[in-house]
Amino acid sequence: PSALPIFSQEEVTKHRSLKDGVWVTYRGSVYDITEFVAIHPGGDKILLAAGGALEPFWALYAVHNQEHILKILSEYKVGEL
Ligand code: HEM
Repeated sequence: PSALPIFSQEEVTKHRSLKDGVWVTYRGSVYDITEFVAIHPGGDKILLAAGGALEPFWALYAVHNQEHILKILSEYKVGEL
């Protein structure tokens, strides 16, 4: 069982800039990736997903379909949808 909070999609959508924080969702979990944006190997493209789901972007950029990337993502988890 997770001790992390549950967020609405509306709350996630409020976090779509470096100023307000950059949140994304993936498979029902919520991630605050604000600190990761500057070190993303794919640069600012990551901001396209800000406030929404990673799935459509990772379907296009299949380089993310690797175990070590899910491990990076897991470090930024802040809650569930
Ligand atoms: C590359 C992580 C979101 C676009 C990468 C790489 C990592 C990474 C680790 C290097 C992969 C490798 O070379 O093995 C992440 C994480 C994300 C995220 C943790 C979400 C929290 C996104 C999004 C987009 C994107 C949303 C596009 C809208 C790219 C591109 C590359 C890349 C284009 C290739 C860069 C290159 O090698 O030239 N990402 N990414 N990423 N990412 Fe992301």
